[in-house]
Amino acid sequence: MTPQQKEHYDQFVQEIEQEMERLYDHIYSFNDENVQVEIIFDNLLYGKKVFDSHFDRIFPQDIRRLSAIHWTPVKVARKAASLLCSQKGTKVLDIGSGCGKFCLVGAATQPESHFHGIEQRSHLTITAKQCAKNLNLVNVSFQSGNMNALNWHEFDSFYFYNPFGENTLSEIVRIDSVMAANLELYYSYVNTTRTKLSTLKTGTRVVTFHGFGGTFPDEYHLKYSEKVGNGELELWIKS
Ligand SMILES: C[S@@+](CC[C@H](N)C(=O)[O-])C[C@H]1O[C@@H](n2cnc3c(N)ncnc32)[C@H](O)[C@@H]1O
Repeated sequence: MTPQQKEHYDQFVQEIEQEMERLYDHIYSFNDENVQVEIIFDNLLYGKKVFDSHFDRIFPQDIRRLSAIHWTPVKVARKAASLLCSQKGTKVLDIGSGCGKFCLVGAATQPESHFHGIEQRSHLTITAKQCAKNLNLVNVSFQSGNMNALNWHEFDSFYFYNPFGENTLSEIVRIDSVMAANLELYYSYVNTTRTKLSTLKTGTRVVTFHGFGGTFPDEYHLKYSEKVGNGELELWIKS
C-alpha cells in the first residue's frame, strides 16, 4: 500500500467508525435496558453480586452471544482489577479489550484507577466506548489497533485474557472470520509480548486469565494464583 492509499484507507475507516458511533448512539437512546445498567454498576461499585447474564445485557445481542467464550466473567474481572490496582492512580492496559467487559467492570469497581483497552476489531471498540458513555464512566478509554504498535511504558499494570488464543481455535468458535487467524500470528504475538514485558519497569503487575500463551521472563514472579471455573487467574510482578 502506498502512503497515499494508506491515508485514504485510514480516513475511510475513521469515517465508518464515526458513522457507526452515531448509529449506536441512536440505538442505545431507545434502549430501556439502560436503566438496568445503572443498577448493575451500582452493584459492582458496592461489592454486590452481579450475574454475567445481567451484565451482558449492556452489549448488543451479537456481541453478547460471544460472552461465554471470549469475554471475562464479571467475578474474574473484579478480582483481576483488584490485583492490578495496588495504588491510587494505577494505569491498567487490557491487551485485546474486545467489547470492553474487563475494563468496564474494572473502572466501575476501582474508581481511583484508569483502565485503557486496545483492540484490533474496531467495531468492538465502538461498542466498548458506547457502553462506557452510557455508564458515565470517566476512568476508562478504548482505542482500535494492534497491541504491537502501542507504547506499553505508559502503563503500570497489564491484563491478558488469553488474547491470542483465537489464532489456535477452529473457525466456528472464533469471534468472526474477518480477522486473519493462524498459528504463525499466535507465536509472533506471544513472542512480542514476552519481549515487551521484559522491558517494563520494576513493580509492573500482570494478571492473566488462561495465560497469555507463553512463559514469563525470569524477572517476573508469581504472587497469586486461583482456579476460577476452568481457568487459572494469576498475578505476576516484575522485580
Ligand atoms: C479473549 S478476548 C478478551 C476480551 C477482553 N479482554 C475481556 O477480557 O473481556 C481477546 C481479544 O483480543 C483481541 N486481540 C487479539 N490479538 C490482538 C492484537 N494483536 N492486538 C489487539 N487486539 C487483539 C481479539 O480481537 C479479542 O477481542
